[in-house]
Amino acid sequence: RRLLGTAGAAGAAGLVAGGAAGAFATETVRKDPAPLTGVGAASRPFYGVHQAGIADPAQTCGHFLAFDLAPDAGRKAAAALMRRWSNTAADLMAGKTPKGDETGVALDAGPSSLTVTFGFGRTFFDRTDLTSKRPDALEPLPDFSADALDSKRSNGDLWVQIGSDDALVAFHALRLIQQQAGNTARLRWQMSGFNRTPGATAQPMTGRNLMGQIDGTNNPKTSDPGFPAKIYVPEDRSGTDEWMAGGSYAVVRRIRMLLDTWEHLSLERQEKVIGRRKSDGAPLSGGTETTRPDLNKVNSDGALAIAGDAHIRVASPASNRGASMLRRAFSYHDGFLDDGAPDAGLLFVAWQADPLKGFVPVQRKLDRGDGLSRFLRHEASGLFAVPGGCKPGEYVGQRLLE
Ligand code: HEM
Repeated sequence: RRLLGTAGAAGAAGLVAGGAAGAFATETVRKDPAPLTGVGAASRPFYGVHQAGIADPAQTCGHFLAFDLAPDAGRKAAAALMRRWSNTAADLMAGKTPKGDETGVALDAGPSSLTVTFGFGRTFFDRTDLTSKRPDALEPLPDFSADALDSKRSNGDLWVQIGSDDALVAFHALRLIQQQAGNTARLRWQMSGFNRTPGATAQPMTGRNLMGQIDGTNNPKTSDPGFPAKIYVPEDRSGTDEWMAGGSYAVVRRIRMLLDTWEHLSLERQEKVIGRRKSDGAPLSGGTETTRPDLNKVNSDGALAIAGDAHIRVASPASNRGASMLRRAFSYHDGFLDDGAPDAGLLFVAWQADPLKGFVPVQRKLDRGDGLSRFLRHEASGLFAVPGGCKPGEYVGQRLLE
């Protein structure tokens, strides 16, 4: 996708940039393609046992798109769409221009850690006459008292998660995915988010969210021996949902932060709500960011070091019979509401092998007694079955749709 490789007639002789050749045109002569920086050159594999975009770090730019199949699009059309989308994702993630793409949006950039991840919502199975293969794990999520969900921005037959460390590369993928939906599927909703840019901090560190907290510290690590069992459906899965072998379930929540209220809290109160220090993410029981929180520690005044309603206490596996998930989120900001409050928060994605052993029990508990929930509104929700990855020549979801 390097510019010189596709610049046609202008290629060998150099390229004039700057629009119409007037007095103010600046001339840029590009003789040899300069090597891409680390950020642009980084790529993640499309083919594999698992889809990309789950266990790998969340990128700087993210787009989530949900589509509904057209009324006359059944299983065959859905299979053809998944083949088109998979081929495009494979090309883009390898830094290649897909055949027929003349958008030019990402011409000069490398793959920039692009990932494109596909999932199926509950309604997909009715539309494709595959209800008998629908996993029990796709039962609708229970209602939670903190929910203020907008059904138009929730769920959907198909879900696509796009992430890249370059905004143009991410948009390019979004645009091609939308174009290729053609007459088979219509966009239902779209959300965009962001994370810190690689290189913005002196050394790599856990990112912050829009409340200013270091977020992601106590996520399960890919090096943990129990990681695959928690996050992925076993590869030897049998039964009606064996097509989900190596897959995972994504719970997607658009969570608005009530920032005007939150920012009025003192630093001490903010830290108590989470149970960690804001500056460096260390637990209030002591140590550094990576020290294991001591939920039993009592201060000299007799109070718990990590308060009874602190987010990290209520959400921890220790308080939820081991329930855990991988949180891989993007922040979002979509302007301001009528009252001037930022329409901003977290596009929260929880990944797990079974939502009933991950998101659901933890959110139930948070709903009852989490100090942080007072400053949040869950505004949209989706639950998607994200199949395992595929081999070259195959497409994502082939084991379900073929
Ligand atoms: C931990 C923020 C929503 C589950 C944390 C931490 C922060 C945080 C700052 C501590 C650092 C870390 O370990 O990552 C937020 C914000 C949210 C949010 C700002 C909403 C906008 C949720 C939701 C869930 C959840 C909806 C699940 C239903 C967890 C879990 C931990 C955690 C499991 C790790 C607890 C531990 O074992 O230490 N969150 N969170 N969070 N959060 Fe949240």
